[in-house]
Amino acid sequence: MTFEAFFPAAGERLRRDLAAFLAAKRPDVARVLPWGPDALRRLEAFTRKGKAVRGCLVALGCEMAGGRASAPAAVRAGSAFELIQSGLLIHDDIMDRDPRRRGGPSIHVQYARLAPGRGGAEAARFGTSQAICAGEIAIFLAFEAMAGLPGPAARTTAVGKLFASEFGLVGLGQMLDIEAGAARRPLTRRRIFAIYRVKTARYSFYLPLAAGWLLGGGRRSTLPALERLGEDLGLAFQIKDDELGLYGRPAATGKPVGSDIREGKRTLYAAGLLERARGAEAARLARVFGRPDATAADIDFVRDLAGRLGVRDEVRGIMEGLGRRARREIRALPVRPAHKDILEGLQAYILDRRG
Ligand code: IPE
Ligand code: MG
Ligand code: MG
Repeated sequence: MTFEAFFPAAGERLRRDLAAFLAAKRPDVARVLPWGPDALRRLEAFTRKGKAVRGCLVALGCEMAGGRASAPAAVRAGSAFELIQSGLLIHDDIMDRDPRRRGGPSIHVQYARLAPGRGGAEAARFGTSQAICAGEIAIFLAFEAMAGLPGPAARTTAVGKLFASEFGLVGLGQMLDIEAGAARRPLTRRRIFAIYRVKTARYSFYLPLAAGWLLGGGRRSTLPALERLGEDLGLAFQIKDDELGLYGRPAATGKPVGSDIREGKRTLYAAGLLERARGAEAARLARVFGRPDATAADIDFVRDLAGRLGVRDEVRGIMEGLGRRARREIRALPVRPAHKDILEGLQAYILDRRG
């Protein structure tokens, strides 16, 4: 089976499972009116719009280890990954002041519109507070899903522990990311990679593959190989995310263009630009970078500058190098050729995706 066939089928199973899991929660939350049923509906709609890469990787990890991709524990754990991803993104959009996500208004913007009164700063604060709660709800629902996984306790307990400890690190990665955005001095590429590893790579690729692998009965001795592969795929994924954030089409990414520049994010693009820009261009860059009110023309200037100074090519080169290393790691994995093909398809998708 190819990546193009595996992922939609796994995604479909996952969305059905997510609907069933949340439907079973409805009676509980129905006691907390009016927000309970509304929050579940909103979370489900938001989660369904995700690409479900992480959830599908749990199914793939399970099959790689000799289990079935449709095993109830793997599918339910996949739903948990997607719920927790929704929670992280809800909080991330507050931190990054991003008004759009997954093709619609971010959750804090949705809630701001429901604020009593006439809008303004109070409505924004209402939206932020409600969205923090909605994010928490998503994260706790994910843990509830993990706590009820069917299967041998030795496997589900190990997976539950790994899930909790790795997701705990993501908060620290986000702290590093926010601190880096506020820092005065440019960051080294090494430091940027360290942040990417914790805020994205480990939990998005290593963790779901490892969780599925353990649920499928795979040996622990393979985990370090999955960790190396997961980190490389995840770093490439984050770099592609940065590229799409600057050069992507909002219709495909579901997010606004240029928001990393407006937030002053320390991406590899920012590092290259701040290092190479000179004279009037450096001065304009300094004015635009980290300015929430930067105009579309300012963002165009930055995109153009990254092209002219060779930063776009440099970043692309780094990402392609990670892709090549990932392909070598895939070939060395102790799994069937059919699964290596799916992983190679995943690697190609990460580098070529538009959204
Ligand atoms: C999001 O990182 C990481 C987590 C949600 C943990 P970014 O802030 O770089 O990602 P986007 O561009 O908003 O999706
Ligand atoms: Mg963000
Ligand atoms: Mg962020």
